[in-house]
Amino acid sequence: MPALTGQRVHAAQCSGAVAVSGPGAPASDRIWTPPAEHGTRRRMNAYDLIFAPGPDTDVPLRHAFGRFGTGVTVITTQSEIGPLGFTANSFSSVSLAPPLVLWSLSNTSRRHDAFAQAKHFSIHVLTDAQADMALHFAANGEGFDTYPHDIDAQGVPLLHGCLARFDCTHHASHPAGDHSIILGRVTQVATKATGAGLAFDQGQYGRFQPF
Ligand SMILES: Cc1cc2nc3c(=O)[nH]c(=O)nc-3n(C[C@H](O)[C@H](O)[C@H](O)COP(=O)(O)O)c2cc1C
Repeated sequence: MPALTGQRVHAAQCSGAVAVSGPGAPASDRIWTPPAEHGTRRRMNAYDLIFAPGPDTDVPLRHAFGRFGTGVTVITTQSEIGPLGFTANSFSSVSLAPPLVLWSLSNTSRRHDAFAQAKHFSIHVLTDAQADMALHFAANGEGFDTYPHDIDAQGVPLLHGCLARFDCTHHASHPAGDHSIILGRVTQVATKATGAGLAFDQGQYGRFQPF
């Protein structure tokens, strides 16, 4: 599991190869290309790719979004077919008063309707020892037997051993392109004082390493 260090990100920002514009990008948006005499030296703010998102840019857009390293959560709820889990890194805190959080849910997920309609759900912030749980609930919504948990009064699975848990009631959902933004009102919080979080950066799991 790679460590996510400041140096690694810094090096990537200052690195070399230059590519230009996607469909529709005006010439003025093209990035500065160093003359040959500059050798391998690049301007510190030179990006490797600049493009306007369009029909053919899903892959580079996904990669660009993936430059934003995040933590990882597993969101659980009760559904018509039983308890369900879902791995999500789009979690964000939103508001302190009232206490609100959000995550975005792909419209193409087989679990979309169950989570979009859920009146109660819990968001679990994973530790660096829970990458297997993240993998499991990315691939499959069921199969809680492997993971110690309780079931609350609303039938929502409460997973053990996580860094933090936010028990939520449905506050709002908003259609947003190919995702639904789900807002939860936090009714109860559980946190651990110690422990390291699971990080996700450029498609890889790792752990945060302070400077
Ligand atoms: C680390 C990680 C984070 C993810 N975050 C999200 C997310 O925030 N929103 C989302 O809709 N899918 C996210 N996914 C994908 C879902 O977990 C799931 O794999 C996908 O929606 C397919 O769901 P399905 O099997 O129900 O069709 C993430 C996957 C991984 C591995």
